Amino acid sequence: MTADPFGLRSLDIDALRAKRGAKWRAHGADFSAWVADMDFPVAPAITVALQEVIDRNEFGYPNWGGPYARSPAARLFAPRMVERFGWEPRDDRIHDLIDVIQGVRATVHHLSAPGDGVVLHLPAYHPFLHTIDEMDRCLVPVVPVDGAFDYDSLEAELAARGASVWILCHPHNPLGHVFERPELERIAEIADRFDLTVISDEIHADLTMPGSIHIPFESLGPDVSARTVTVTSASKAFNLAGLRWAVLHAGSARAHDALRSLPGHYLGAPNLMAVAATVAAWTDGDGWLGAVIEVLDENRAALADLLEAHLPGAVYTAPDATYLAWIDVRPLGLGDDPAAIFRERGVDLSPGPQFGPQGVGHVRLNFATSPHLLEETVRVMAG
Ligand SMILES: Cc1ncc(COP(=O)(O)O)c(C=O)c1O
Repeated sequence: MTADPFGLRSLDIDALRAKRGAKWRAHGADFSAWVADMDFPVAPAITVALQEVIDRNEFGYPNWGGPYARSPAARLFAPRMVERFGWEPRDDRIHDLIDVIQGVRATVHHLSAPGDGVVLHLPAYHPFLHTIDEMDRCLVPVVPVDGAFDYDSLEAELAARGASVWILCHPHNPLGHVFERPELERIAEIADRFDLTVISDEIHADLTMPGSIHIPFESLGPDVSARTVTVTSASKAFNLAGLRWAVLHAGSARAHDALRSLPGHYLGAPNLMAVAATVAAWTDGDGWLGAVIEVLDENRAALADLLEAHLPGAVYTAPDATYLAWIDVRPLGLGDDPAAIFRERGVDLSPGPQFGPQGVGHVRLNFATSPHLLEETVRVMAG
């Protein structure tokens, strides 16, 4: 029997169904594999840190060294990047945020204008598509052709119409693609030639699977960093999405100056529980994270067998990062939005079309659950 010190392999379905959050409550399906929250309990260090705040009954204004001082979580960001990825962010360019999408939108707002082009790999995490749409920017897509992104077409498009910003989802949601150095260098070269600011969303970096490595985009060099903003958070890898904290590193001086020139409180202030949880995660959570990666690594492989056994014809390639599986179910003939059919059968998945036209006939399945519940989920999907 496999050791399970963190209770990742023995989840209780009734306890999950009793949760009040979006994942298990929003649509009321029997099994839930849609939004990017994990079913796993958080790292013990996080529970202890949050319990300490509760035990001290300490919910007043925090003492981080003045109203505009950076949070202790933000102060841990640079050392963590050095330790995990060998990238040394500039300590004077780090900003606390409430969430990652706030950083994406603030940067798009300040470094581009309505009508400007925004480059984005498709299919895309839908809040990026909404950002472009709601902020009246124009999508400049990079699409996969025969399994690889087509940068030649992108360059032709940029030569014809230009763009201001590139939202880089690195690693990529929903494809689970890890951009390796040659591809990152090509992106950097295009960004330089067409004078684009890159927003590198690296929220899934800590969920890079064995066999792949994450290379922070800004670590490519000072010139790349100087046109880049990196946004990230402990919220995906440590399952803290409801607590609301994220961090932005502005390698780009323009982005840094724009953020610094905002009136105080404009972007809000971090939540002290989120900061306590992030500090615990980043100082004492990596044993738990390693155990989570082991289960996810097993699940991403098991999913291939489960699909073959129960939904033969579904096309799936195990992701190199994230706990999100992008599944092409067009061979099953379930229509443009197969998630609607799987929901009727009792499983909540993310509908592929939400991620752009490339998502027609696809679903995104969240496999951050116990091996047993993953198996149940796929059985129920089969009807
Ligand atoms: C790529 C990516 N960025 C951002 C987010 C959301 O982050 P936040 O809740 O901090 O805005 C997610 C959530 O799944 C995500 O997958």
